[in-house]
Amino acid sequence: MRRSLMIVTLSCALTPLAWGEFRVNPYLQQPSSDGMLFTWFTTTNTPGSIQITGPGLASPLSLGSSPTREIVLDYTTGEDVQTISGLSQGSWLVGGPGARDNNYKHSVDVRALQPGQTYTYTVTQGDQAYTREFRTAPTRTDWQSVRFVAMSDSEIEPLARTQRTQWAPGAGGQSRPAADSAFATKFGTATLNGATVLRYPLTESEGFKRNLNIVDSRNPDFVVMPGDIVQGGGYQPGWDEFFRHQAGEFGDNLSKRPLIAAMGNWEVFATGVNGGYSTNTEANPLNNGPRFGRMKYKSYIDAPSNGTDDHQDNYHRVDYGPVTIITLDSTNGGLPGGMNEDRRANYPAGTKLTGQQYTGPGTDTQENFTVDAYNATRVDAGYERYDFDDLSDFNPGSTQWNWARQQLADARAAGQIVFVQFHHAPYSDGEHGLPMNHAASSGQGGTPMRQYHSMFEQFGVAAVLSGHSEMFERSFVDENGDGVGVNYYDVGVSADGLRGERRVNEVAGADFYTRELLNYNPFSQWTADQSEAEQWELVDGVLQLVDGGKHYGHLEVNVERISSEVGDLFAQITLTPVYSFPVLDSEYNLLRTERRVYGDEIVLLVNADGRVVPEPATLGLIAGVALLALRRR
Ligand SMILES: [Fe+2]
Repeated sequence: MRRSLMIVTLSCALTPLAWGEFRVNPYLQQPSSDGMLFTWFTTTNTPGSIQITGPGLASPLSLGSSPTREIVLDYTTGEDVQTISGLSQGSWLVGGPGARDNNYKHSVDVRALQPGQTYTYTVTQGDQAYTREFRTAPTRTDWQSVRFVAMSDSEIEPLARTQRTQWAPGAGGQSRPAADSAFATKFGTATLNGATVLRYPLTESEGFKRNLNIVDSRNPDFVVMPGDIVQGGGYQPGWDEFFRHQAGEFGDNLSKRPLIAAMGNWEVFATGVNGGYSTNTEANPLNNGPRFGRMKYKSYIDAPSNGTDDHQDNYHRVDYGPVTIITLDSTNGGLPGGMNEDRRANYPAGTKLTGQQYTGPGTDTQENFTVDAYNATRVDAGYERYDFDDLSDFNPGSTQWNWARQQLADARAAGQIVFVQFHHAPYSDGEHGLPMNHAASSGQGGTPMRQYHSMFEQFGVAAVLSGHSEMFERSFVDENGDGVGVNYYDVGVSADGLRGERRVNEVAGADFYTRELLNYNPFSQWTADQSEAEQWELVDGVLQLVDGGKHYGHLEVNVERISSEVGDLFAQITLTPVYSFPVLDSEYNLLRTERRVYGDEIVLLVNADGRVVPEPATLGLIAGVALLALRRR
């Protein structure tokens, strides 16, 4: 079994897989009250099998797999020759540089199980067997609690094993160790908008592992990941590394609970070695970086049908008992012929917005490629199955927009508690919070997704889960002022960036704290950057962070049933921002990471329609008492 392998050297060398082993261990998707989709990858074209035991099964349920060759997952020549600082060249490539034809996908859809039960599965490939437990979803009428975790922007890649991210200084950061301190020497420094800042104590990979360990310790029912899960959807070593952490030698989180994923901008990017965003390149076999990324994503991620062929896996709906997760594709606004396309260059200098000016959301979240260019590129022989026009515009009237409205209406009619996820946070004080026509726009702002707000509020969406600015932020928008609105999260702190709020005067050389906060997002309620001050103290004569600050983490969501005798109340939703706090010794070696909770846990009450309701003080008290008796985890 690969999970018995030990990583023993500082250079993080991996023992190469023997031919024919699991390439990706089994991982779970598409949870339902009667089953699950099981997916795994092997390095050879060898059929496997899955056996399931548990409630209602007098004898094990046994199903075979028919592997498919996933040619789009083959390494490129650029990946073969890539060098990564601190790693032995090619050591991260499965089979080594030049290896091809070693990605075989196995999918088995099981829908014959009982709701709300724990089962054991064993996947067998040759003489190898992989066993884990999983749970089926409850029904929407018979349930007590649902727990899930939302995290994004892991942007994992082999480089993450040695890279420490720049640690944007937030509130309290003035007390940090200096740029010539032992801390800075140990972990390094970076230049952020012209200012020298510390790097985070954990590598991105170590940060991801620790964060996932916390997730695992809480045993959630499923994991929601709104995008940027790999550092390049078109970068195969990124996908290999993602699954090493989630269903491989570094961790087994997704072998035990299903993933519900959305595409982010990194999933439509192929990284430099494979042509980036280019739609006319020889660097990858599809001659199209965005398509290469999306096709790899669709090889690994399989979502329930959304009723379209072209847009399969882009946007989708999963019901988990009383909870509905609606996933949207926010990666592109644009239609053939140029409609909805936008870019910063459309707004000449002198006409651009400045400061807190805002004139509207805009129509596009990227300026890196157009739909026409995406659709025009040729596809090489052998890759014909990827030759379709799969981009899905999100603007009003689009196929995706109409689908979203239909699903929201249907979920509301069914009394579901609804969460929406997509990558580009519509409301953000961070890097990507500015519209395309603002002078400081990143060219990837999430504001176009604000167009959905009225729809979300109308249909009583409880919360929207996004990433992209990599900040950990909560915003609250209540358009009609009735006290009930929608909470929007940026949960993009799972493993990569730990960014801060946008500041004005972002020019080289200026001292970081002489730059005022831009405060572009008037709906912001909380950020880890500004609401959770770093607390530095001398511990054994060494300056240590003892609490607060920006760290890797995730949002934990608990939906708990309340006695229907308490007024019209039906459920309580608790949204808890969790962070993985590193405890260091006096030489700044990592002792452990601790699960800690930021000071912005919020509680929403839900009525029998599945809508969030205002919380009168007395009602809240009654509900609290009722919950004490019902809380079971
Ligand atoms: Fe992003």
